[in-house]
Amino acid sequence: MYTHQMMELIKKVEATRPRRKGVDYPRMAPQERQEVLRNFHPDFIADGFRPLKVGVNKGDKVPRELADLIEARSRIANVSLNLEDPTYDVDVLVIGGGGAGAAAALSALGKGADVLLVTKLRFGDANTMMAQGGIQAADKANDSPEIHYLDVIGGGHFTNVPSLVRALVNDAPMVIKWLEELGTFFDKDEQGNMLTAHGGGTSRKRMHAARDYTGAEIMRTLRDEAFNKGIKVIEFCAAVELLLDTEGKAAGAILFNLETEEYLVARAKTVILALGGSGRLHFQGFPTTNHYGATADGLVMGYRAGAKLAFMDTIQYHPTGAAYPPQILGLLVTEKVRGLGATPLNINGEQFVHHLETRDVESAAIIRECSERKLGIPTPTGMVGVWLDCPLIDLIHGEGTIEKQLPAMLRQFARFDVDIRKVPMLIYPALHYQNGGLMIDENGATAIENLYVAGENSGGIHGRNRLMGNSLLDILVFGRRAGWHAGEKCKEVQLKQLSLDHVDNYHRELAQNGVDTAGRVSPMLLPRYTHREALQV
Ligand code: FUM
Repeated sequence: MYTHQMMELIKKVEATRPRRKGVDYPRMAPQERQEVLRNFHPDFIADGFRPLKVGVNKGDKVPRELADLIEARSRIANVSLNLEDPTYDVDVLVIGGGGAGAAAALSALGKGADVLLVTKLRFGDANTMMAQGGIQAADKANDSPEIHYLDVIGGGHFTNVPSLVRALVNDAPMVIKWLEELGTFFDKDEQGNMLTAHGGGTSRKRMHAARDYTGAEIMRTLRDEAFNKGIKVIEFCAAVELLLDTEGKAAGAILFNLETEEYLVARAKTVILALGGSGRLHFQGFPTTNHYGATADGLVMGYRAGAKLAFMDTIQYHPTGAAYPPQILGLLVTEKVRGLGATPLNINGEQFVHHLETRDVESAAIIRECSERKLGIPTPTGMVGVWLDCPLIDLIHGEGTIEKQLPAMLRQFARFDVDIRKVPMLIYPALHYQNGGLMIDENGATAIENLYVAGENSGGIHGRNRLMGNSLLDILVFGRRAGWHAGEKCKEVQLKQLSLDHVDNYHRELAQNGVDTAGRVSPMLLPRYTHREALQV
């Protein structure tokens, strides 16, 4: 429920609404975009980053919170393990139970491989499940993968790895078809045509959605398919270190069963990391839209084993995290809300940025409005935010649009007596996505033989900024590709003796470079504010 003061301020929004309806606020010129990014985007706050002191990316800057995890001691430093007697011995080990892991497991199974999927929470408990707005694919007559390619590259400031973007956009229409065949219910018109919408930075309407819970619908489908196909899944079982063989090739992982608190050895001919992102590290103190399990585990394990990071000096802040009520601080307000016409407004009820700039620019403009210009709206909890004028949606598209297109949003705010059909939401940027991750090629392969990576813990596809709807797409495109190649490759792999020498070597390198690791172990597995009894460390 908004306070009396907030309701008074909302009157200014209502006063300007009639003159704003149907008027498109001008987009920024390229130079202005660069300026607002440089001055207000958190990526440009030098103190938020520091160079790594060890490993293949030594000297490269990453967020401080991540650097501290990467430069920590392994959880298995003092654990005795019998590598000669693995508990699990499979062809393909998939680590991670979100969309990328599920797609990879299905794809590897399709190659005839014996697949094991392990996940530290429950199968499907992941950022995929929380994705709302949609998935991009150029499958309409006025669109093409080439146009999609240009949008992706433009959104990424022309830094993306071209071969990865090519794979992303070319596979997209096939991925949508595949999902439909599996049973995903996408929004359609009465003739059965897919309804598609714009996201920030898209030149065509290519966002396919299932209302505003697209990720949950996709994850439901993938999980059902995995169960139907009999894929072996172990829940509450976290990977804590990769295993290599004596030739330095990936050969499995050390697992930690969170229920029995046992360490287990899983041997595998190929390994796929699909461990998601790092939002729960709360870079620079930002609230996050992310799932509870997003603690950078894939980056930590992959890096320790020698895989290279790319673009980890760029983080995505979603322009519209909830700023109020405090119970939902940081929760995602989907970009679909802006896609349907809602606009950001300052304390005077005035728009200050086009509502569909790319996410980095939109976020930086909101931060500028609240900091330099001091035109944000204060909350009773000491936060500041800007209005997102959602009642405009029903004015533009007709009454009932919010109810039909944004049922989850409607409910999320209604729980706190905020009716988004009548009053604006209060929003502020929230940590949403790591643009970078472990470097892959178009097959999801890394420079470590037999190690594949898919989903948010991979890097290069989105360059320095991802567009909305390309994450649900990338987890499936590269999940499928990684699974397919890992499933094929395992047929020729002859494993040598299992080894954890890389962990000892890493510890030695930390010591040689004077890194004080006191009190720090990684991967983190669960956020720092987890009740300690839930995870012994
Ligand atoms: O705003 C959203 O619905 C988020 C989508 C995305 O990150 O792709």
